[in-house]
Amino acid sequence: MATIRPSRGAEHTAILGVGAYRPSRVVPNAELVEAIESSDEWIQQRSGIKTRRWATPDETVQSMAVAASRDALAKAGVDAPQIDCVIVATVSHMLQTPAVATLIAHELGTDQAAAFDVSAACAGFCHAVGMASDMVRAGSAGHVLVIGVERLSDLTDVGDRGTAFIFADGAGAAVVGPSETPGIGPLVWGSDGEQYDLIRQREDWREVIASESPRMPHLVMQGNPVFRWASFAMAKVGRQALDRAGITAEELDCFVPHQANMRIIDALARSMKLPDTVRIARDVADMGNTSAASVPLALERMIREGDARPGDTALLIAFGAGLAYAAQVVTVP
Ligand code: UT7
Repeated sequence: MATIRPSRGAEHTAILGVGAYRPSRVVPNAELVEAIESSDEWIQQRSGIKTRRWATPDETVQSMAVAASRDALAKAGVDAPQIDCVIVATVSHMLQTPAVATLIAHELGTDQAAAFDVSAACAGFCHAVGMASDMVRAGSAGHVLVIGVERLSDLTDVGDRGTAFIFADGAGAAVVGPSETPGIGPLVWGSDGEQYDLIRQREDWREVIASESPRMPHLVMQGNPVFRWASFAMAKVGRQALDRAGITAEELDCFVPHQANMRIIDALARSMKLPDTVRIARDVADMGNTSAASVPLALERMIREGDARPGDTALLIAFGAGLAYAAQVVTVP
């Protein structure tokens, strides 16, 4: 039997640079409350959200992803042709096929990098960072560009009390590449399909077409069960990611959870018993819930504002529709 030569890559990997694109239009709670019979006070109390960004017509999934990617590439000091693979985590690219990743790779000038989309909702970015790290260590790619991008305003029913004030738009990106020391810890990930219906597109495309008055199949969410699942089950996942990376809570500098709700962020930090010294991402207050974009957006902000410094140890954790979740410890670039 012939022997197939195994593929080997870098011994260690790291995030080399993080970039972001925040849409220009700021939408305060006041603009949304009338249609859902709510109030600025209720929204702030229950979710911690004050404003969010909604993309203008020319701020597309592609254009926001390209802008965030250029920022990440510049910060990493990596040129587009050095990228061997582009992974885009999104649920709001409006074509079933092909993936938006190939268009983004082409616009960036990556020299025909492999490119594909990942559908893991809010957990997509952490899934993609884990895959990118494994690819670089296995030798399938030298550098991987990971993007989390959403235009959830297209999928949001502004008359739905359960979601209208939550979902928002934006893009974040990270370059994953080789490193002298381990910069991306083991990926802890999983799913719970028993809770498939808790957050979902309301109807599938065949049901939309068959209906008498076809309408956009908006996202719907049973918020409270998701809230309880995220607050408790995800603390266990976060602790597993720390344990598998051999990091104690005391050694952690930053906590960058999915930006879904300020109360979930606080509950996670409490049940993981994170010390007060750990700096916590709270981007949700100004950005709402940007699903796959939320973790890279929050991390980029912490770096830009000096709350996450080069060499710091950060725990990333993301969770959402599926239900799907993923977490890992990383070194801040
Ligand atoms: O990104 C993917 C993962 N997603 C998440 O992690 C989101 C998780 N869920 C949440 O963030 C929260 O469940 C929400 C912020 C969506 C809702 O907060 P909650 O504390 O779970 O509220 P609730 O759904 O239990 O509703 C409490 C009350 C109800 O009234 P009664 O029955 O107590 O009289 C609702 O009818 O608030 C009422 N309510 C509202 N009131 C004003 C529900 N929505 C609204 C609203 N404005 N928009």
